[in-house]
Amino acid sequence: MGIFCIFFCTFVRKINKITMEFNRITAAEAAAFVQNGQTIGLSGFTPAGVAKCTPAEIAKRAEAEHAAGRPFKISIFTGASTGQSCDGELSDVDAIDFRAPYTTNPDFRKNVNQNTHLHYSDLNLSNMATQIRQGYLGEVNWAIIEACAIEKVGSKAHIYLTAAGGISPTVCRLATEGIIVELNSFHSPNSKGIHDVYEIEDHPFRQPIMITKASDRIGKPYIEVDADRIVGVVECNIPDEARSFKDPDPITTQIGQNVADFLLLNLKKGLIPQTFLNLQSGVGSGANAVLGALGQCPEVPNFNIYTEVLQDAPVALMKQGRVLSASACSLTVTNDCLLDIYDNIDFFKDKLVLRPSEISNCPEVIARLGVCALNTAIECDLYGHVNSTKICGTKMMNGIGGSADFAANAYLTIFTCGSTTKGGAISSIVPFASHIDHTNHYVDAVITEYGVADLRHKSDLQKAEELIKVAHPDYRPLLEDYLKFAEKRGGHTHHELSAAFAMHDTFLRKGDMRLTDYSEYIK
Ligand code: COA
Repeated sequence: MGIFCIFFCTFVRKINKITMEFNRITAAEAAAFVQNGQTIGLSGFTPAGVAKCTPAEIAKRAEAEHAAGRPFKISIFTGASTGQSCDGELSDVDAIDFRAPYTTNPDFRKNVNQNTHLHYSDLNLSNMATQIRQGYLGEVNWAIIEACAIEKVGSKAHIYLTAAGGISPTVCRLATEGIIVELNSFHSPNSKGIHDVYEIEDHPFRQPIMITKASDRIGKPYIEVDADRIVGVVECNIPDEARSFKDPDPITTQIGQNVADFLLLNLKKGLIPQTFLNLQSGVGSGANAVLGALGQCPEVPNFNIYTEVLQDAPVALMKQGRVLSASACSLTVTNDCLLDIYDNIDFFKDKLVLRPSEISNCPEVIARLGVCALNTAIECDLYGHVNSTKICGTKMMNGIGGSADFAANAYLTIFTCGSTTKGGAISSIVPFASHIDHTNHYVDAVITEYGVADLRHKSDLQKAEELIKVAHPDYRPLLEDYLKFAEKRGGHTHHELSAAFAMHDTFLRKGDMRLTDYSEYIK
């Protein structure tokens, strides 16, 4: 009891010290700083580490302003996606003018697909901080940053970030009006030191980024700013708005096994170094399951991770010793997993480093380290072009995220997907992708539960043969028929344009791609 009292009093003294040194404000007072037409730059990357209570209050304020007949919209810059308290609530009350660079929130998705006044710019995540610095996106007025600790050192403040790096260093430096800090006690101050904060120099002074292995550190464990730029500290205790993952199913498990087999084959053939590659794994349940399956495969050597989002499966592999070290931008994990990391910080601190997104996704570093990029495709066409973002070419799913940062610069670029979705009504292998994010120049292999389409050292028509082999058996005849019609047109890449989207169009009209009848398209 005595020890508890000493601990508690020390804790209260520490909090009081913080609030005496910085102006303590409520979330509503923080929200009141932000004016119609201004831009906020948020900490976080995915829902991890995002400032949460101020954006939710801004949404309430927008609603009140709209009810009073006054306009209120803001622009939001982040590292990647956020959670319901930001993208969800602000888009629901029509308070977003411009948003970049990535989102995954279901409400935002619904709103952005029906509200043409919600301007969403889907950007490569490595570019976001750079484009802010270059002034392409206009000025940032407020930085709103979630911290696990904040310290005053002379005239400076040291801000210790929580579960993600994102664009925080850049927006803190550039915010014209000031910085609001959300001191969130859900995140343990024990995690101080997990971040490596480094901001790339402006051109023409840009220097090489001296990361030569995933665990290297080149910056500081905190963001340093002039203390007088902090307009207020909002104290809160809010868990991250983490998404839960779908459990691995027989399809994702088989895809994981196929990825593992493919990597082992490459290892045996000497096509990848015997020390293995640094792995990057994409976002979502599929990617989480693939990495989990890979870790369970005993022939795959222990490996390092250089990625943007670290999900639950690789954290478990770190604890098993299968993952030796991990560099990421965010801990996009369930809250249980996050608290477990905080509880075992002594184990993780020399193995895990969180970086700003322009470093975690930096093309220069990815190319230098030799990365195996594993991302999930929405669909892939017969010639290996990949769609990561748009359903049937029009509806925004999430955005490109960091998939192109990694795919275009990796040593080995793999896209995975289940061969079908929506109960088999949609094939992931289609004649022509309805939108293309990754051209076939960057795609080395496409892996489904039916196997590996190894696209290296193949002409376009040879790629098509490989890809039909990994399509669902229900769709192979439709894809073969398409190629037969297309062959009549000739050329290096065969396409019959009148039927190129027949499968998509049939799905939109009849609800199932399997009902495709090419005679309706080819006259
Ligand atoms: N047509 C229609 N819907 C499709 C589809 C297609 N071709 N492919 C997938 N979907 C739907 C699924 O049916 C599912 O819908 P539901 O949520 O209603 O069940 C949803 O998209 C998610 O698909 P799922 O199979 O559960 O995969 P996932 O959670 O692994 O996400 C992506 C897949 C492609 C959406 C996701 O990985 C993504 O946003 N990628 C782009 C960004 C990226 O790669 N970032 C990583 C860089 S490090």
